[in-house]
Amino acid sequence: MEVFNSPQQFLRHFSGKSYSIGMVPTMGALHEGHLSLIEKALIENDKVLVTIFVNPTQFDNNIDLKNYPNKLEEDIYKISQFGKNISVFIPNENDIYGDKIISKQYDLGNLDRVMEGKIRKGHFQGVATVLEYFFKTFLPSKAYFGEKDYQQLLIVNHLSKSLNISTKIIGCPIVRTTDGLAMSSRNILLNSEERRIAPKVYEGLKLAKKLASTEKYKKVKIEVRNFFKNLSLIRLEYFTATDPFTLVEFNPNEKIKYGRGFIAASLGKIRLIDNINMS
Ligand code: PAJ
Repeated sequence: MEVFNSPQQFLRHFSGKSYSIGMVPTMGALHEGHLSLIEKALIENDKVLVTIFVNPTQFDNNIDLKNYPNKLEEDIYKISQFGKNISVFIPNENDIYGDKIISKQYDLGNLDRVMEGKIRKGHFQGVATVLEYFFKTFLPSKAYFGEKDYQQLLIVNHLSKSLNISTKIIGCPIVRTTDGLAMSSRNILLNSEERRIAPKVYEGLKLAKKLASTEKYKKVKIEVRNFFKNLSLIRLEYFTATDPFTLVEFNPNEKIKYGRGFIAASLGKIRLIDNINMS
């Protein structure tokens, strides 16, 4: 495993060699969800490049940015366990942004107007800015993203097409703990009571899926809201079911025959997001 801090170092190392590179962009504090992406990338490519960069422009809230977990030493150890075909890129802000730390502005095909895009203003513009930089600097053959951030996955697909980037975007399934909670770097910020109740997010999604087989969307929505109303500590921000490609919400009088269900909920100061295939 090699660790690079500048893009030049990386490019020098790989120049003249025709490896297929699989990229796994992360913000660190690696858990098994991230590791599952790395494993898949190692199977499908000659070399894997993991990036660790807590990207400031995708945070709409300075406290969230300040509190974002930093586990760099442990991360590097975990990545080193994968052996020799893996490199880590840990840039600093100036490599990516120069001296102006601001997002570029992209047309993200309205996929950024709903759900997380509506609540976290500018979030996806920040994500797109850093990913454009990674794609154009390292020209990976494939790049791996988790369905945990399903909206992000669709937006990255849209971005790569609209920028004419040849990198193939690969979506990977959500990795959960045994109690159903979707793994997330922010989970370590939950206190023990919050952690105990956090799997209710996934339970809410499973309830929605079950109801959707017999009920109209309107009824599913009401029941999911009631499920969370009866729980203390956890506050439902949204439950929505949408077309899995356009993220257009179903009509209340329709039955959900296919599509994706999404929940965002807050537990104390921590936001959790999760989603499920409704069909
Ligand atoms: P981060 O939250 O670190 O996630 C990095 C990648 O891991 C993303 O593609 C995310 O969807 C995936 N991931 C996270 N939890 C997962 C889980 N439980 N199961 C499967 N995959 C999971 O997402 C970002 O960073 C950033 O926005 C980034 C793309 C790196 C741009 O800054």
